[in-house]
Amino acid sequence: MPPRTVFSCSACGHESPKWHGRCPGCGDWNTLVEEKPTAKTRAPARAKPVRLADVESPKLKRYSTGIGELDRVLGGGVVPGSLVLIGGSPGIGKSTLTASALGNLAAQRKVLYVTGEESPAQVKLRAERLGAAALDVPILAETDLDAVVATIEAESPAVCVIDSVQTLYAADLTGAPGSVGQVREVAARLMRVAKERNVATVLVGHVTKEGSLAGPRVLEHLVDCVLQFEGERERTYRTLRALKNRFGSTNEVGVFEMRDDGLAEVADASARFVAEATRAPGSVVLAAMEGSRPMLVEVQALVAPTELVPPRRIANGVDRNRLALILAVLSRHGGLALGSSDIFVSLAGGVRVDEPGADLAIALALASAAKGMPLGGERPLAAFGEIGLTGELRAVAHHERRVNEAEKFGLAPVLAPGDGVTTLRQALRGALAAGADASAAAA
Ligand code: TYD
Ligand code: MG
Repeated sequence: MPPRTVFSCSACGHESPKWHGRCPGCGDWNTLVEEKPTAKTRAPARAKPVRLADVESPKLKRYSTGIGELDRVLGGGVVPGSLVLIGGSPGIGKSTLTASALGNLAAQRKVLYVTGEESPAQVKLRAERLGAAALDVPILAETDLDAVVATIEAESPAVCVIDSVQTLYAADLTGAPGSVGQVREVAARLMRVAKERNVATVLVGHVTKEGSLAGPRVLEHLVDCVLQFEGERERTYRTLRALKNRFGSTNEVGVFEMRDDGLAEVADASARFVAEATRAPGSVVLAAMEGSRPMLVEVQALVAPTELVPPRRIANGVDRNRLALILAVLSRHGGLALGSSDIFVSLAGGVRVDEPGADLAIALALASAAKGMPLGGERPLAAFGEIGLTGELRAVAHHERRVNEAEKFGLAPVLAPGDGVTTLRQALRGALAAGADASAAAA
């Protein structure tokens, strides 16, 4: 009997021989996707479990991409035969990053760039901007999955980039390219080839602002590594972080800058951001931790009276809910009620920070903006620390390393939870008084 296709629910896994708009299993709408049935195998004879200590752990070999920030986020380079997904919104630089990585890798080993999105001429135009190495990369412009798989099998490259996973399609499935069923099938087939032939495969995937285009989300469990490329297209700085990594930590963040000749690594992010800090009212330098490395980032706040009800709360680079919490604590425990003001908070350069250690710097920037008073003296004020619901300051991880980083750039003393500063109210009072003294001295 030929294998029949089944429709399975992407929410609950219910399988059905025909398509339903509403899943008979869980009742969700539009969750059924076409899939090829998996062959049922008989249970094998009893296998013998092995003690973990006796399991051989081969030392992972890795290929360096020649891009330090990318290697670091991957955990030290690309692992042979691994499947990496790079997600990010259109125009962020996924093709640029993967094309330059392949260009560097091509000097040592066989590579392949599969484009389903752009014509070879377009890819060449980009490569010309990236330099001679990128022009060495062999390219295949193809969207038919069978043809792509056949080419990979024949060429057997060490590293292969698929740009993008949403443009490939399996001819034997009915769904349009980019649909959940197609994307899953494409990734599953590519994974099989990757593991069989030991081809490190990088899948490029788009995510729209709403996350609506099928793709990256449904692949996360399948791939070894999920990298997220973030930033705003209009801004120069972009960050690359690992959301999942079977071969490394998920704390690492790479910082890049888009230039005329491709993405440049920003190894000295702190120096850049501190040099760019304005020191105007509303500006505070946050001593953040990005994975294993400390990074100084400028937090900017703007507080403007408004008639709007409710007033605007716009957060760029920081979590909206965290901002709401900080505003509530400022009003309840900091004597700063901003209920009739529009509020904008943003991290300079388009960077994003997701850690409670950012609270205090955000609160200080807001207070400074509201009072129209600059903080810090000749140098910007650096701060970090978590704010608790009762207005207390809480210690955060890597206190020393944050302080050291700030001192390295001449930002001392650093305002942080510790001796003499245990509440938000104390921190505010201290910072505003120091700012006033500095302003008076300068006048
Ligand atoms: P691209 O890598 O095509 O983004 P994605 O594949 O994620 O959609 O490039 C994004 C933008 O970067 C594009 O608008 C052009 C710009 N760019 C540069 O500024 N400098 C360069 O050297 C390159 C190659 C692109
Ligand atoms: Mg692209």
